[in-house]
Amino acid sequence: MKKPKISIIGLGFVGLTLAAVNAKKGFDTIGIETNSKKLEKNRKGLSDFYEPKLERFLKESIKKNNIKFTNNLREILKTDITFVTVGTPPLNNGKIDLSSVESVISSLVQILKTKKEKHTVVIKSTVTPTTTSQIIHPQFNKIKNVKVVVNPEFLRESLAIEDLLNPHLIVIGENKTGDGLELKKYYQSFYKKCPEILFTDLSSAEMIKYSNNAFLSTKISFINSIANICQNIPNADVKTIAYAIGKDPRIGSLFLNAGPGFGGSCLPKDLSALIEFSKKTHNLNSILKSVKIVNDDQPKRIIEIIKKMGIFNKGNTISILGIAFKKNTDDVRDSKAISLVKILLKNNMKVKIHDPMALDNFKEIFHDKIKYCKTVSEGMLNSHCCIIMVGWDEYKNLKSKDFQKNMKKANVIDATRILDHKKFKNISFSAIGLGD
Ligand code: UGA
Repeated sequence: MKKPKISIIGLGFVGLTLAAVNAKKGFDTIGIETNSKKLEKNRKGLSDFYEPKLERFLKESIKKNNIKFTNNLREILKTDITFVTVGTPPLNNGKIDLSSVESVISSLVQILKTKKEKHTVVIKSTVTPTTTSQIIHPQFNKIKNVKVVVNPEFLRESLAIEDLLNPHLIVIGENKTGDGLELKKYYQSFYKKCPEILFTDLSSAEMIKYSNNAFLSTKISFINSIANICQNIPNADVKTIAYAIGKDPRIGSLFLNAGPGFGGSCLPKDLSALIEFSKKTHNLNSILKSVKIVNDDQPKRIIEIIKKMGIFNKGNTISILGIAFKKNTDDVRDSKAISLVKILLKNNMKVKIHDPMALDNFKEIFHDKIKYCKTVSEGMLNSHCCIIMVGWDEYKNLKSKDFQKNMKKANVIDATRILDHKKFKNISFSAIGLGD
């Protein structure tokens, strides 16, 4: 069977990963992007963000000549399937900004109306339910050969390639049975052993994506609520509790790590968009709102610990280890460290930070208001309190003496629970969800 040719519009983390893996699998691939700086980098096999293995995949595909990058949308005419992967960021009021999707779709309508051969447009960008059936699909109604389907993605940053190669499920939302046939054939040729494909209507596919992320967010805010209760019960430890409840197959062990709350470019924005969307339909969103409140407030739990240590004083220096939204990424979007630093600065405290990858991205937010440190020991030097916000591997082996040797006084807060608290009894050590 002849392999379909693929175009991908929007080369952010989802689009570029999809383009690279697709080309590596031998599909002729065209990546389309309006940002010329991004394009310039991508053409050299470079990515503008860190994602393990991505640049290797890009370089290999460029060498084999089966990937091309352009800003010309008309290039989609040379392909059979177009994935739309442009961003849908949050507006200030929490609602979703669909302007990039809408503008791409109106251009696609103009370009595809002349196409004689069949073409499938795949909405992979996360869009709120009914966007495709009410706004996107009707625009293609008169174009006979074009099918529009919704195909949400479940990729995690830093594990995106692995997730793309091993999905737990493929969801294809269609307006009419058969609309997703070409996409199904594509996936059957993409995977040696094709994962389960679930066909749904357009809006259910959109809602699956939101429900997935909302459930993950709920698990995290749930365990953080338990952690916050544990904090006031002598010796109670949320880590042990999470381990125990995670053994119950009805609960499962994943996404039960208590900490400073969830960040990143997806979970917080999708939760807010779902809450805003639900206001249109009877406002039945009390669980979702609580999940958001717990998450927004979680950095305050760290401030409470600093206060309890008696060092929440004007002029004191606080060190933060890890400022990316999670480990193995340089992404700081909606990172909980941002909220924490804002509170500390507002209270006239001095802040020093260390992160193996994300310092430059953090600099774009805080400029010269805080100190950026290239080594862990520089990061904690002469500070009054050291907070571990991200579980980077290089923090796992820290010992009491590392803090004692470098800090003014060894006050340590393990906000992501990566250290074994029993080994830190000789210093002032606290952790989220650890009662004292
Ligand atoms: C998330 C979902 O996991 C993906 O399935 C989804 O495709 C993606 O959003 C998206 O919508 O594009 P991602 O944002 O890359 O992926 O990161 P996660 O690994 O889910 O972590 C999100 C946040 O939750 C991080 O801040 C992480 O530290 C936090 N988290 C995660 C916890 O606090 N506790 C946990 O147990 C797990």
